[in-house]
Amino acid sequence: MSPLQRLWPYVRRFHGAYVLGGALTVGYAIFFQLPPLLTRELVARLESGETAGQIRPVVAWLVAATLVFGLLRFLSRRTLFRAGRRVENELRNDFYAHLQKLPESYFAGQRTGDLMSRAVNDINNVRMLLGMGVLNIVQTPILYFAALGVMVWVNWELALWVLLPYPLFAVLARFFARRIHATVLAQQEQIGQISAAVQENASGVFVVRFCAMQERERERFERESRRLYYRQIEMAMAHTGMFAVISTVPALTQIAVLYVGSQFVSATSADLWMFYMYTLQLAFPTMMLGWVLNIVQRGLAGMVRIGEVLDELPSIRDRADAVDPARVRGAVEFSDLHLSYSGREASPALAGIDFAASQGQSVGIVGPVGSGKSTLVAAIPRLLEIPDEALRIDAHDVNRLPLRLLRSSIAMVPQDSFLFSASVADNIRYGAPDAGDDEVREAARRAHVLGDIEEELPFGFETLVGERGVTLSGGQRQRIALARALILDPAILILDDALSSVDYATEEAILKELRTSRAGRTCFIVSHRLSAVRDADLILVLDAGRVIESGGHAELLAEGGVYARTYRHQRLEAELEV
Ligand SMILES: Nc1ncnc2c1ncn2[C@@H]1O[C@H](COP(=O)(O)OP(=O)(O)OP(=O)(O)O)[C@@H](O)[C@H]1O
Ligand SMILES: [Mg+2]
Repeated sequence: MSPLQRLWPYVRRFHGAYVLGGALTVGYAIFFQLPPLLTRELVARLESGETAGQIRPVVAWLVAATLVFGLLRFLSRRTLFRAGRRVENELRNDFYAHLQKLPESYFAGQRTGDLMSRAVNDINNVRMLLGMGVLNIVQTPILYFAALGVMVWVNWELALWVLLPYPLFAVLARFFARRIHATVLAQQEQIGQISAAVQENASGVFVVRFCAMQERERERFERESRRLYYRQIEMAMAHTGMFAVISTVPALTQIAVLYVGSQFVSATSADLWMFYMYTLQLAFPTMMLGWVLNIVQRGLAGMVRIGEVLDELPSIRDRADAVDPARVRGAVEFSDLHLSYSGREASPALAGIDFAASQGQSVGIVGPVGSGKSTLVAAIPRLLEIPDEALRIDAHDVNRLPLRLLRSSIAMVPQDSFLFSASVADNIRYGAPDAGDDEVREAARRAHVLGDIEEELPFGFETLVGERGVTLSGGQRQRIALARALILDPAILILDDALSSVDYATEEAILKELRTSRAGRTCFIVSHRLSAVRDADLILVLDAGRVIESGGHAELLAEGGVYARTYRHQRLEAELEV
């Protein structure tokens, strides 16, 4: 789709505003001609010796025309700029809604900064195109042709002389517009560098400190800051240059009008006045010409960049052949699931997973780093794209379950829990915004974080946690994320190494709590600590995307394989610790 095709539906949605704005702009362009014409009339009458009483109507007309001209200018701009803002708003919301549908893998391969710049800068450029751009595209040609017509009609010779410097004027305008555009971009990019530097230093403050890199980071920052200073000077110079030209060239043209008009062309002083006014009035639209070309270019380029994201298909979405059971009960069955991440087809993350967990069972998943544990559990809520018939929930192919039902039936505590910058209570009730304080408290209790919240945090549940929850300890963060999952009371609960920063005794207590409160809930517990999965109904030992051992704890111990060896090893470690 071309950027214009893409924009069309938005323009159509606000067509009323665009039609009105267009009509007002045409009116403005017509009224633009009246002040010079009436001035000419006034001067002509003054010269012919008319009395004050006789010229009064012309003065009145001149005042009225100037007022209407100003009003139309205001209204046309207001209408079109508003329409541009409305499109911007819709477009930004559509962009965000689309991002929400894209799979996790899309964000993994995308720089956050780039997405932010599309959502902010590019959409801003589109808005300029649809406001300022449309205004000038409608107005400038009418303005020029009407003015030209009037000038030629009044005195064609003088008209030719007046128009002479305009090509030069347009070239200069284009030059400055380009220059300003380039310097603005360079400046924006540099601001991006500086914010990245500040952000990295803020997030990585520990690394900077313990590597004793403060001095070097400070120097790096000063370098970037100095660059920004130069970019800003360049930008200011480009603006100053433009304003110098914008005021000098018309002034010179006005002198030329007077000189040429009186010396070489037979023009009356009334004509001279009219031309004099036109040179002044046309200066600004001419200067704008350079801008408009830029605005159009930037707006279209912005729309292309937004379109790239909008074209990204949400690969994981509801299917036409979806089934709609009333609820998910929680039986999970994998049959020969193979899964590779794109670009890594040579080493599949999962290479044939086969197992079944009936409703209410608990499944423990262990294995070395990179063996596919997180990938396996991420397949259950369809966070990843999986082949048909490889995973069934309650005997339905998971790909045919409505995503909303599927995901609202599953709660997952991911490996690195993310907390929003909000209060602890709001973080816990994130998935259940209507949950009352009692429910929040109960979830915190079951996640064994109630004591921490009430005794250690300065404002208890109302304590604000920073971005990514940096004001909490790793273990507190993990248990708050667990409470967020527990409050949902899901049919299927997945803990992906979610208690790794919690001490052994607390982990035991939490798992015990989960077992007693489970009541028909299917649980998946991924862990590096075998003690966490010891009591599971089914334990899977993964290696390189395959299940190499499976069964109950006693069974696996008796087998004397990897599980048994690791278990003895970890128990020994635990005993040594105590
Ligand atoms: N988004 C991704 N893109 C490409 N490859 C990935 C991605 N996520 C994981 N992998 C790869 O898939 C394999 C399995 O990863 P996975 O995260 O499932 O392992 P894991 O068992 O959870 O490891 P850990 O114990 O470290 O959490 C690894 O080789 C990993 O490098
Ligand atoms: Mg993992």
